[in-house]
Amino acid sequence: MQQKNLIIAFGGNSPEHEVSVLTAIQAASALEENIWNLVPLYISKSGQWLTGEHLLDLESYKEIQKAETSSVSCHFETGHNDAAELVTRPAGWLSRPERTRIDALLCAFHGAEGENGAFQGLCETFNIPYSGSDVSSSALGMDKRLAKILCRQEGIPVVDDVWIREQEWIEHSEELISECKKIGFPLFVKPVTLGSSIGVQKVTDRQTLVDAVEESFRYDSGLLVEKAVQPLTEINCSVLGDRDSIKVSVCEQPLGKEALLSFEDKYMQGDGGGKGMASASREIPAPIPEEQTKQIQEYARRIFYQLGCSGVSRLDFLRNSESGEIFFNEINTIPGSFSYYLWEATELRFDQLLEELIAISMKRHQTKNSRVRSHEVNLLSQKAVKGLKGLKGGK
Ligand SMILES: Nc1ncnc2c1ncn2[C@@H]1O[C@H](COP(=O)(O)OP(=O)(O)O)[C@@H](O)[C@H]1O
Ligand SMILES: [Mg+2]
Repeated sequence: MQQKNLIIAFGGNSPEHEVSVLTAIQAASALEENIWNLVPLYISKSGQWLTGEHLLDLESYKEIQKAETSSVSCHFETGHNDAAELVTRPAGWLSRPERTRIDALLCAFHGAEGENGAFQGLCETFNIPYSGSDVSSSALGMDKRLAKILCRQEGIPVVDDVWIREQEWIEHSEELISECKKIGFPLFVKPVTLGSSIGVQKVTDRQTLVDAVEESFRYDSGLLVEKAVQPLTEINCSVLGDRDSIKVSVCEQPLGKEALLSFEDKYMQGDGGGKGMASASREIPAPIPEEQTKQIQEYARRIFYQLGCSGVSRLDFLRNSESGEIFFNEINTIPGSFSYYLWEATELRFDQLLEELIAISMKRHQTKNSRVRSHEVNLLSQKAVKGLKGLKGGK
């Protein structure tokens, strides 16, 4: 049987670049090489598209400069039979480009253009089957404000917030501060479209609020100022599938050293970070009452459905550990390590999870390609255009 080519796309200009490298390498080692010919597509921090076998070896990243210079530039092209190809652009004068037919693509980015629908849009344009949520669901999932608006409409609890745009802050900061005060301190200030706790700050009074808001505008042009849930426990749940068929995982309780899970808590613990999101300490299943677990799983399923997500997502909830109240916090449409540790605890091995992810993407691709997308008739044929005024040369 001819091996199929699976492109593993990762890296990118995102604060979660390194985490994405870890997720990609974890996935590559879980996938059976005899089924898939694994081809890395690594996007460097400066935006270069690179390929080369060594890019799926963690060791290579210890000397990133060397890893980059020993790679080959590459790009997407529509090749023969209209099939998308990954085409290399070798540096040498006489070397010929290598063309690899793209049978499937595993999207292993975290954050920014790799997770917010932009890269997904590129795949759509080249008609490449790619794993995970589509353009609109990825974009909605990345926008904390829009995801919360959808939850409110669905009757799923979220904490009160004030949305602050940079221009509005410049013009009406006093009104905005009063609105925040109405919610009451302590508050959380967070950029609307970032992840990994970057720019997220807890504030306790007017001055720390103003400082945090101004600091957060370095990262994003829109912020949410939210009521703080305290005392807090965080509960996450993963969802796998698409609108036709949805599975939910067991819940986890991530255990941070401090109240706010920092980037270091999430990714840099244990053996120095080599395990990515999977190395963070957590309790599985989360030690909460059974009916609350069910409630969270139900919310997670509904949000995933409403956003139209596919593949694997992780939905994060905030729980007041005194009152037991639960609030949806955010969805990660490409979760760290694809949340495989939650699926292993739900009796699905990592390789099976990845195969499902790929199967879901192939199904979406086939459905898309089975629909009518253009008309046989050339609307610009001579007959149709006859009589149209105002076109250059067509008086
Ligand atoms: N409203 C809140 N109340 C209490 N803690 C919060 C709140 N919002 C965020 N946090 C804390 O900050 C962390 C990061 O915020 P989050 O919204 O998850 O952003 P990110 O996308 O960066 O992960 C959360 O994991 C949680 O520990
Ligand atoms: Mg988070």
